Amino acid sequence: GLGIIKIPVHVNVLYSNSSQNVSDNQIQAQIDVLNTDFRNNNSNISMLPSGSTFVNDVTDTEIEFLFNASSDITRKSTSISAWSTNDDMKKSSRGGIDPTSPNTTLNIWICNISGGILGYAQFPGGPSSTDGVVILYSSLPGGSASPYNEGRTATHEVGHYLNLRHIWGDGRCRQDDFVADTPSAGGANYGCPSYPSVSCKTADMTMNYMDYTNDSCMYMFTDGQRNRMRALLATGQR
Ligand code: ARG
Ligand code: ZN
Ligand code: CA
Repeated sequence: GLGIIKIPVHVNVLYSNSSQNVSDNQIQAQIDVLNTDFRNNNSNISMLPSGSTFVNDVTDTEIEFLFNASSDITRKSTSISAWSTNDDMKKSSRGGIDPTSPNTTLNIWICNISGGILGYAQFPGGPSSTDGVVILYSSLPGGSASPYNEGRTATHEVGHYLNLRHIWGDGRCRQDDFVADTPSAGGANYGCPSYPSVSCKTADMTMNYMDYTNDSCMYMFTDGQRNRMRALLATGQR
């Protein structure tokens, strides 16, 4: 196998005021959350119900993120106070910041996004000029977007970037996310559902990073998700 896979990260910060200009320390805390979650070192894994079958599915993806705050951050002051999901933040020609080495590096844009959107990602196979993930500045650990302020928007979006779908497959119970060990679900879950929370035949995996629950209530990827992400990385894409 590939062993531990290490993905270099470059962070792009666009700000129109000082709260959007998140600190190096806050960015480092975000990268730390990514590494903790992808290596299954997150402390809230203790919430996993011990009697649940999900105990057998939780995994260490063995994917890590390489980042040095002194060299891997680009900042840009702008008069644009909120960005939409049209990728303008990724284009210097539109007032944004062009990605750094997108064929080898995960680019993360941190900015204000309009419309109550926490973040979005480009799936594998898209243009390299817009490759990466966009994160709402206030979703970083310690940000103001409670209950989505523990850095798990980035975990979720990087899951998409590495080819993961929402666990409900963006459809009803019969729509697949192409991962066998994530149970079918009838739709997104929110808040902090107690286990078992059943929308189709068996309990939903509401605590999966690819659901829509509160940051404090999501804590796992599965073996199947690990395999899907690593299969992508094995192709040399990303
Ligand atoms: N709605 C966004 C998406 O689908 C992000 C959801 C993040 N959820 C969270 N608990 N932080 O990509
Ligand atoms: Zn999503
Ligand atoms: Ca599934």
